[in-house]
Amino acid sequence: MDPALTPHEALALLAWQVDLGATEAICDAPVNRYEAPRPAPAAAPAAARPVASAPRPPARPAPVDPVAVARAAADAATDREGLAAAMAAYELCELKKGARNLVFSDGNPKARVMVIGEAPGREEDLQGKPFVGRAGHLLDQMFGHIGLGRNDPAAERALYITNVLPWRPPQNRDPEAGEVAMMLPFLERHVALVDPDILVLMGNHSCGALLGRKGITRLRGHWVQALGRPALPMFHPAYLLRTQLAKRDAWHDLLMLQTRLRGG
Ligand code: URA
Repeated sequence: MDPALTPHEALALLAWQVDLGATEAICDAPVNRYEAPRPAPAAAPAAARPVASAPRPPARPAPVDPVAVARAAADAATDREGLAAAMAAYELCELKKGARNLVFSDGNPKARVMVIGEAPGREEDLQGKPFVGRAGHLLDQMFGHIGLGRNDPAAERALYITNVLPWRPPQNRDPEAGEVAMMLPFLERHVALVDPDILVLMGNHSCGALLGRKGITRLRGHWVQALGRPALPMFHPAYLLRTQLAKRDAWHDLLMLQTRLRGG
């Protein structure tokens, strides 16, 4: 009770509150409900608040080197089947996504002569075999003239055929440098596993990949070294289909090859 009040005054005040409708005493000290409520304490500025340590972003994976991945996969292959499987499992070449089939090789793997073309075309993509379209038909005829065929079981009369790229480029466009670079370790391993005596480099892209230079008109007709073996650059049969006059040069080159195979 307020000490300034007499018992009579306090009783009179209580009666007055009962008259106003109060029915229950809740607390000793009165509460002035008209007083504006005190603002809640402002939130501390962000800098002052204790900072919950934010989760660190996951470490960025090191960039993948497609050539190094290809090299490791190719070098791990101990035979042609393993190499074909490694190529089929290689996911870093975009060409794979647009291709129907991996075109690995055709012919007799014991052949003395390994022909290296550019990349599969439409027919090759459908069949999963190199040089089976029009250009392939001409290739078979050309080599047939010097007694070599892809289906011949005798190593000295056989051909083994592959390409720089195992997947068809869209609309048969030229291979890109990056595509060639990432597939080259597979080609190098392919040559090492087949171990032919002689390579025939069919056209500019094959020369570019294995010799590091193009210019088939000047390169053809001369023996060079590729991957440590004798190699003969030749006009691509697709070019010969368009350029009849160049067939004479191709015939000359085939005879060079035949002479070499006979030990000349
Ligand atoms: N041209 C090539 O270079 N390779 C093929 O397999 C078919 C056409």
